[in-house]
Amino acid sequence: MATTLAKAPESVEYAARLEHVSKSFAGPGGQQLVLDDISLDVAPGEFVTLLGASGCGKSTLLNLVAGLDRPTAGSIGTDGRPALMFQEHALFPWLTAGKNIELALKLRGVPKNDRRGKTEELLELVRLKGAYGKRVHELSGGMRQRVALARALAQESNLLLMDEPFAALDAITRDVLHDELTRIWAETGLSVLFVTHNVREAVRLAQRVVLLSSRPGRIAREWSVDIPQPRRIEDAPVAELSLEITDVLRGEIRRHGQH
Ligand SMILES: Nc1ncnc2c1ncn2[C@@H]1O[C@H](COP(=O)(O)OP(=O)(O)O)[C@@H](O)[C@H]1O
Ligand SMILES: [Mg+2]
Repeated sequence: MATTLAKAPESVEYAARLEHVSKSFAGPGGQQLVLDDISLDVAPGEFVTLLGASGCGKSTLLNLVAGLDRPTAGSIGTDGRPALMFQEHALFPWLTAGKNIELALKLRGVPKNDRRGKTEELLELVRLKGAYGKRVHELSGGMRQRVALARALAQESNLLLMDEPFAALDAITRDVLHDELTRIWAETGLSVLFVTHNVREAVRLAQRVVLLSSRPGRIAREWSVDIPQPRRIEDAPVAELSLEITDVLRGEIRRHGQH
């Protein structure tokens, strides 16, 4: 009797895959090409930072991956629906920290009775134990971003998209949140695509740094970062690689002018 081979479960090849993605916007002088022929994979569990000067198209790219906008050409695939986190926390000010997180759980269909416990777990994960009943205005900028991170994690997505989430924070708070994000990434096995214009931040966090050029945004170069975690932004290898990347970035900016 012939045996039928069981079909292997479909393995997920990528958390995000961009193939020849371009994006133009209608501008005063006609169509403005913002992103030009971007191909990029984020592997499951990988932490990638997308680095580039202001206005090079980083947010545009992230919005495309999030499905908030459509590419002019090319295709984008993600492993499920990604979670998003921005520079502004975008928490609802009339809800407490806990209720903001519970709302995300509710939208995901988590049964009412499970939400409180799950929210407490998420608050603990971002080291905000006891903050459940706090109003948004009672929280510092760093704490607000912790709640925003917990809310993003509540979506249980495989891919977390972060658009300069720590750019408005002071350096000390940012340092602490880098540590927390690295720890949470390692604990959860999430894939992260993190956008920043800060070279050291990109190197501090990522397994791979992808540099975008400006006008139009193209992948100029990428580096894999083999420095062991947890890193510190002041570590010599972080500083060294940051210098190398900064030199390439400056060359890109000179080539394209206007900065
Ligand atoms: N909805 C839009 N309509 C027209 N132009 C846009 C739109 N969104 C972004 N742009 C333009 O695309 C370019 C890249 O913007 P953005 O992605 O926000 O850059 P970054 O996040 O790297 O600072 C800018 O020149 C910006 O003016
Ligand atoms: Mg931006």
